Amino acid sequence: MLDTESKIVNFEYAPSIEAIDIVRIEPKNKLFIGGKFVEPTSKKYFASINPATGEPLAQIADANAKDVDLAVKAARKAYNTVWSKMSGKERGRYLFRIARMIQERARELAVLETLDNGKPIKESRDIDIPLVAAHFFYYAGWADKLEYAVPGRAIQPLGVVGQIIPWNFPLLMAAWKIAPALACGNTVVIKPAETTSLSCLLLAQILQEAGLPDGVVNVVTGAGETGAAIVSHPDINKIAFTGSTDVGRLIQKSIAHTDKRLTLELGGKSAHIVYEDAAIEQAVEGVINGIYFNQGHVCCAGSRLLLEESISDLFVGKLKSRMEKLRVGNPLDKNTDIGAINSATEFGKIKKLIDSGIEEGGEFFEPSIELPKKGFFQKPCFFNKVSSAFSLSRVEVFGPVLTISTFRTTQEAIMKANDTQYGLAAGVWSEKGSKIHKTAAALKAGVVWANTYNKFDPSSPFGGFNESGFGREGGRHGLFPYLSIK
Ligand code: NAI
Ligand code: MG
Repeated sequence: MLDTESKIVNFEYAPSIEAIDIVRIEPKNKLFIGGKFVEPTSKKYFASINPATGEPLAQIADANAKDVDLAVKAARKAYNTVWSKMSGKERGRYLFRIARMIQERARELAVLETLDNGKPIKESRDIDIPLVAAHFFYYAGWADKLEYAVPGRAIQPLGVVGQIIPWNFPLLMAAWKIAPALACGNTVVIKPAETTSLSCLLLAQILQEAGLPDGVVNVVTGAGETGAAIVSHPDINKIAFTGSTDVGRLIQKSIAHTDKRLTLELGGKSAHIVYEDAAIEQAVEGVINGIYFNQGHVCCAGSRLLLEESISDLFVGKLKSRMEKLRVGNPLDKNTDIGAINSATEFGKIKKLIDSGIEEGGEFFEPSIELPKKGFFQKPCFFNKVSSAFSLSRVEVFGPVLTISTFRTTQEAIMKANDTQYGLAAGVWSEKGSKIHKTAAALKAGVVWANTYNKFDPSSPFGGFNESGFGREGGRHGLFPYLSIK
């Protein structure tokens, strides 16, 4: 057996901090309605903080139902007078222009995202922002080819769509929502999460500079009440929501008596299966990436590790020594692997869930690494040898917390993986193609990654089963929720 502990050298990296002077943050950030930045009618603002320091970054406008109504009116006017009348080719041109401008301002967007969200700069720089641009490019390409997406059918845009997004991938979720909506000829009222509004507001600035007609995209900031005002607005034709299962349920109930369309992308408790014939070192990296990527603030995080019994001790040993080398700290440091938990609320929730797991008797491990004194930082950790009944095997933690159990046969692995009320994603590691195909086909999950994890591409659809929601985002499938198909 390989002695991994002695093989990994613990390199010390000198700090390499990304400069923040490329970003200009307005002290007060207004709403974006009808192509202009406007004061909220209530004149109320709330603070957005930098979770890595706990210090306030900026004030954000608190939109009420009146502001939401103004935004919907602007979107309706833009829909009736410009956007629904424009050719797909013209709409595509705007989307291409937006995509290119995002690329040009990528560093600025990445730094702002990291400041407001707490995610490591290497992720916002290398993953989030490139995917944001890719999404706009991808749907720009569809705008004049919609008739080929649904051959032989008559299609129309829906009208005004209301979009409510979370804080874990603020700008990426905005792109996932806005790009297909616009490509299909709809206009948008979007609400970013209250802890991460800044990148969406910078995107609004980019849309303004791109010359996007006034009112085609409107950004209203605020918390749950602002979101509820969008959901209940009578002149909205469709709601697209990404966030917690609880709020998703609430939204579905509240519009059940209307003809509003709905797509929900909710939580997950995704299984990550490693067979004994897998490439172990790669699988260890994959598992780390699956759960500790973005502080575990990932709806499709591989939060339940299922190991074939014969390799479980070896695998857990390697996992432990690799975790000792993870760098947790300043998200602006280019070497940082794990950044800050997004808010005090989430931080408190994660701590409480970990405590409850320890109390319940899970075999707990966390590395001995040191955390910064300020800000919301959480060590990556896991609970080993737990059963499916263990509470953290069932509850979504939405933090860097993994549970580990074992299996002996493919059938047992599949049964355990599917033993959840969710069904967003799963991962399978094996050198045998047939085993991967057999397993993947039997997993009840929207996405199954094989010998990799957390890989995204705008051309491949994403979405869940059961309590993970319904509807698909990305790919050709991502167009359907934004079209009326006759
Ligand atoms: P949340 O579901 O409350 O927030 C998501 C978005 O919905 C935010 O923009 C929020 O302002 C808005 N919202 C809240 N209440 C609303 C309402 N009644 N009507 C309309 N919009 C409303 O999620 P939260 O509180 O930020 O996080 C709680 C938990 O949810 C997390 O710990 C995690 O387990 C899960 N979550 C899952 C996400 C995913 O990607 N699937 C993303 C964020 C959270
Ligand atoms: Mg909430």
